Amino acid sequence: MKKQLITTALAGLMALSFSATADENAFNDADKAVEYRQKALSVMKENFSAMAAMIKGEVEYNADFFQRRADDFEKMSGIPWSGFAVEGAMPGNNSDALTAIWDNWEDFQQRANDLQEYAAKLSEISQQGSLDSIKPVFMDTANTCKGCHDEYKD
Ligand code: HEC
Repeated sequence: MKKQLITTALAGLMALSFSATADENAFNDADKAVEYRQKALSVMKENFSAMAAMIKGEVEYNADFFQRRADDFEKMSGIPWSGFAVEGAMPGNNSDALTAIWDNWEDFQQRANDLQEYAAKLSEISQQGSLDSIKPVFMDTANTCKGCHDEYKD
């Protein structure tokens, strides 16, 4: 009796976790996954570019504006990656993702994590309102973009 109860409970749990997997992401097929990650990357980049313009002096540095972009950048920095995790979300004509991503999944994830850590640091350092303090963290972040693109983006 007890054993049967446990089995039933386990079966229930497994059913739950399977349905959780199916509903875990905000998309349900490979094409949507590609679209999802590309859109997220592009919103992330808009915020990054707005900061870059101030770093380069093309736009005058404004601490409040920079801070808001850094905060949004941090929020976005965790969003794209689930779009790479779905099996079948491999590059087709509509994607620049290289298959090396799935051959080196841990390295790819590590780089995605590094980006999120730099994004958090950038948001934090922005509170000081000093471009001199911001610059090195910004450069580390930019190098993380480039490093990953060199390896995994067409
Ligand atoms: C962990 C790896 C990784 C990191 C870190 C990374 N990218 Fe990418 N990025 C990719 C890959 C892979 C693609 C290609 C995605 C596709 O087309 O399916 C891509 C595509 C893009 C695109 C094109 C999106 C589109 O509309 O097709 C932009 C813009 C972009 N990245 C900006 C950035 C910026 C800015 C950073 C740093 C702040 C960054 N990425 C960091 C892997 C990364």
